[in-house]
Amino acid sequence: SFEIALARSAMTLQVPAGRSILEVLQENGVDVPSSCEQGACGTCVCGVLEGEPEHQDVYLSAAERAANDQIMTCVSRARSARLVLDI
Ligand code: FES
Repeated sequence: SFEIALARSAMTLQVPAGRSILEVLQENGVDVPSSCEQGACGTCVCGVLEGEPEHQDVYLSAAERAANDQIMTCVSRARSARLVLDI
């Protein structure tokens, strides 16, 4: 599991194995739009302020992945213990 800190809502949440960031956000009343939920459409993007995403989407380009400043919350996870998201 890993932790997500929401910079704009002053909330810290745990993302367990087997649950997506998007699911955890929605369960906690944080409204992030989503569509495909398979990492393909880009709808569920969130900005990343700190931490290193583990990108599992097929939407971002190689350069966008390397920049580590956005994440597809429906499929991607974290390499670092904590991500700070711009939401
Ligand atoms: Fe389509 Fe996440 S909902 S990429």
